[in-house]
Amino acid sequence: MAGVAAASAAGKIGSFLSKKPYAPPSWASHLSPAPSQTFSLGHFPTPIHKWNLPNLPSGTEVWIKRDDLSGMQLSGNKVRKLEFLMADAVAQGADCVITVGGIQSNHCRATAVAAKYLNLDCYLILRTSKLLVDKDPGLVGNLLVERLVGAHIDLVSKEEYGKIGSVALADLLKKKLLEEGRKPYVIPVGGSNSLGTWGYIEAIQEIEHQIQISGDVRFDDIVVACGSGGTIAGLALGSKLSSLKANVHAFSVCDDPEYFYAYAQGLIDGLHSGLVSRDLVNIENAKGLGYAMNTAEELKFVKDIAAATGIVLDPVYSGKAVYGMLKDMAANPAKWEGRKILFVHTGGLLGLYDKVDELSSLSGSWRRMDLEESVPRKDGTGKMF
Ligand SMILES: Cc1ncc(COP(=O)(O)O)c(C=O)c1O
Repeated sequence: MAGVAAASAAGKIGSFLSKKPYAPPSWASHLSPAPSQTFSLGHFPTPIHKWNLPNLPSGTEVWIKRDDLSGMQLSGNKVRKLEFLMADAVAQGADCVITVGGIQSNHCRATAVAAKYLNLDCYLILRTSKLLVDKDPGLVGNLLVERLVGAHIDLVSKEEYGKIGSVALADLLKKKLLEEGRKPYVIPVGGSNSLGTWGYIEAIQEIEHQIQISGDVRFDDIVVACGSGGTIAGLALGSKLSSLKANVHAFSVCDDPEYFYAYAQGLIDGLHSGLVSRDLVNIENAKGLGYAMNTAEELKFVKDIAAATGIVLDPVYSGKAVYGMLKDMAANPAKWEGRKILFVHTGGLLGLYDKVDELSSLSGSWRRMDLEESVPRKDGTGKMF
């Protein structure tokens, strides 16, 4: 059984963080260019289990693929892309990587960790507000991990980012590093280029194997958050080409659906698939107040889902996607009735720390334990703890 063989190969001592030859799934063998190697950075397969969300339409089942458990310091969906991107960086002889993102970018933090695993330096260009761009960015959430692993951080304001763009900013830093004799490798925003797309093509093969060994499960729909487009491009292409044939629904959390249809088209054209993004994925807007901004209702939703099911969604990506999905289910129950849905939890938990102030009034209660002075100790004496 391929899945079992893959699982035991993954369990072999020394296989984690090793380079492996890569061959695409048979149904994707016509896609080109195909990577020839990958670095084992994540813990795969990630589990799939039933998710008892409240208020589902009649007969609707939601299952969840736990890519939030993919490893690499809570790196979520980014690990899958980085397995291919980092292998390419190493193959090209890079001694450092550059990437770009928002101040709490999960992708930037994942890249910083992956780089150190492979003994590469990491340079991050992080976008922040004009008011904060000249100040120490602090240690909240993703920044803590980035700074602990020694990533070099360059801050730019949102205005500078909007004017210059991520590609020119990365080029500028690349030029400087080349002048210093370094060998930089640039990873685009979110790791979303055609090479990174293989991460979620491969995830579809993983889901296929999980279905095969489980026997009686099938999925009608796959639902996921969309932030830079690479995850949906891989899932949509893979679902169409593989035996899965599930409809892919994306909820966009920053740019509008039109932008992502075009961006995903570029990614799948880059693999010469001959397919059209609009035929492969349905994208809905779940941006709300804007990227990384939340209404009180969205944050309460994240809290309520955690309290009801134990699944902690991040407010920036999967929280908005599930919020959007349940809103759509309430508005159009007939569309979802009786369907088996696989929600892909893409991680992002460290981003929660950025919302601590807003979440504090919603979060669980505490109290000083009521202790009578006379409670006798039961586990030995003289030990402080
Ligand atoms: C936690 C999380 N979920 C989902 C996404 C969206 O994935 P993609 O960038 O591939 O669209 C991202 C990154 O943008 C992310 O950090």
